[in-house]
Amino acid sequence: MIRRRKISVVGAGNVGASAALYCAERELGDVVLIDVVEGIPQGKGLDMLQYGPIERFDGRIVGTQDGAAMAGSDVVIVTAGVARKPGMTRLDLLQTNAKIIASVADNIKTHAPESIVVVITNPLDTMTYLLWKRTGFPPQRVVGQAGILDGARFAAFIAAELNVSVEDISTLVLGGHGDDMVPLIRYTTVSGIPLSELMSADKINALVDRTRNGGAEIVKLLKTGSAYYAPAAAGVQMAEAILKDKRRIMACSAYLTGQFGLNDVYIGVPVLIGGNGVESIVEIRLTEAEQTALHNSAKIYKEANADSLKAVS
Ligand code: LAC
Repeated sequence: MIRRRKISVVGAGNVGASAALYCAERELGDVVLIDVVEGIPQGKGLDMLQYGPIERFDGRIVGTQDGAAMAGSDVVIVTAGVARKPGMTRLDLLQTNAKIIASVADNIKTHAPESIVVVITNPLDTMTYLLWKRTGFPPQRVVGQAGILDGARFAAFIAAELNVSVEDISTLVLGGHGDDMVPLIRYTTVSGIPLSELMSADKINALVDRTRNGGAEIVKLLKTGSAYYAPAAAGVQMAEAILKDKRRIMACSAYLTGQFGLNDVYIGVPVLIGGNGVESIVEIRLTEAEQTALHNSAKIYKEANADSLKAVS
């Protein structure tokens, strides 16, 4: 018997609801939307179900408070947690979101022990580590979303600046999902042409700065929350690579065991992502400056990881 794939999305806020909708629209599988707030996932799920006949997609979409509904999920996308308000860094969310992620992890471990988990909750690299630790899953099956989003922001700014299609732009942003991110300019191309051939160093630096603050720029405008369309789409792109065993190479937050000279930390690196989750980590050579930036970024999350474990002990 062939059955549809199943995706559970934990957290029915803006990111979770958007992720659920993108999964359904692309017919990646049946979708379960889970949230502790009564009625919200049910209502949003029903709305999405009724959107199906208009956009012509099939698939079951259900909303629930019951963690047991995630049973049999191939992929679980975790978005539960609070978002930033103006003036906050992502790390300011650590205490609150660590407790939420610990309980989500326990639910996943109980109800969807075979699933592959894509984490979107901030502070991303730390919450991914905590969820991995708490579930006891092999690190191949827990991966964090951030590099795709940061790379997409950079790509959007490059496209606007050069007045060219986003389709030809390829970016690679490593490191943690924070101001400490590490955009690799050497690996940023427009139809294979290195960005430095098309843009001055000053202009590139300005776009990198805007990318670093890309999340905060949106928080400042929204005032009551953070970005959701692009963060959700980035997570769904990873889910799709897993569900279709595409073996894409994308920047994701993955567990390192010596690669890039780093150990026991989740941080953004190039990852080969396929049907088993993190199939491998693509250990490219970095310049000294890039390596230093990556290590400085990892140091921040190593400390944050210790804090988040403490917060839930
Ligand atoms: C952002 C948040 C979602 O970067 O991390 O917009």
